[in-house]
Amino acid sequence: MAGSDQPTPPRRLRARVGAPGAREFAEGGRAAAAELEAALLASGSPGFDAYASILDFGCGSARVLPHVHALAPGARCAGCDVDEAAVAWATRAHPGLDLRVSAASPPLPFAAGSFQLVYSISVLSHLDEAGQDAWLAELARVLLPGGVALLSVHGPDAFAQFRSGAVRSAWCDPAAFERPELGADEFVFMPYRRSIWNRSELRGVDTAYGLAFHGPDYVRRRWPTWFEVVNVVPAGVTDWQDVIVCRARSLQAMDVDAAGEEQ
Ligand SMILES: C[S@@+](CC[C@H](N)C(=O)[O-])C[C@H]1O[C@@H](n2cnc3c(N)ncnc32)[C@H](O)[C@@H]1O
Repeated sequence: MAGSDQPTPPRRLRARVGAPGAREFAEGGRAAAAELEAALLASGSPGFDAYASILDFGCGSARVLPHVHALAPGARCAGCDVDEAAVAWATRAHPGLDLRVSAASPPLPFAAGSFQLVYSISVLSHLDEAGQDAWLAELARVLLPGGVALLSVHGPDAFAQFRSGAVRSAWCDPAAFERPELGADEFVFMPYRRSIWNRSELRGVDTAYGLAFHGPDYVRRRWPTWFEVVNVVPAGVTDWQDVIVCRARSLQAMDVDAAGEEQ
């Protein structure tokens, strides 16, 4: 249990969610749940215990979800991931969670309007724009109208850390960061080069995958197709990914838009 009250998966599964150390996995998961709750409160939404149904999209081996469940003990907590081995381990370790293997492209194995809150850490920060658009539409579908989404992205500060060399990616073209800083209205995607070194860590990911960077103005301009963007919390989770706090638009608002499009 690595000093935690939650079971800890084997190292190979911890590595796939970017937390190879047992303590790093346990404490990082607890910290991330607390950071997401802080982002909710800072955005005028209630904490986790106000939601009856919660989805962790890209939950891996459930680094974070058990800690969210501890903050919302009455909630139905679900998670999904493309990584079958991670989901199989987490299903055995956490029988109180509803965990599913999902496909690399939509749809998810959940009915429309299944959740009051959806969160996702470090998934949209790896998808290209087509993948982002498809998944934002799908997350909006499984949310109840008025529900909340907390979605992490690499913002300008994360980009600056890669560009300066403070953080390195062994999997991207090293020349990729020889360019100006991320503009506030920019989206940049840098694909990973697939090799024997990263094959096992990208299990189940058969779509475009790499490092994605989102400027805050880009998010505010593009994401309203699917969500009301309520807040952008810089370095709101994992110490360096920004948290985009969104609200699923009400059915009424979507009807008005659809009527407008037909005119
Ligand atoms: C960096 S890990 C983060 C895992 C987890 N959110 C956490 O914070 O511990 C990214 C996760 O996204 C999953 N993933 C990648 N593409 C996905 C997709 N299209 N649908 C669901 N999960 C996906 C990967 O399998 C991996 O578990």
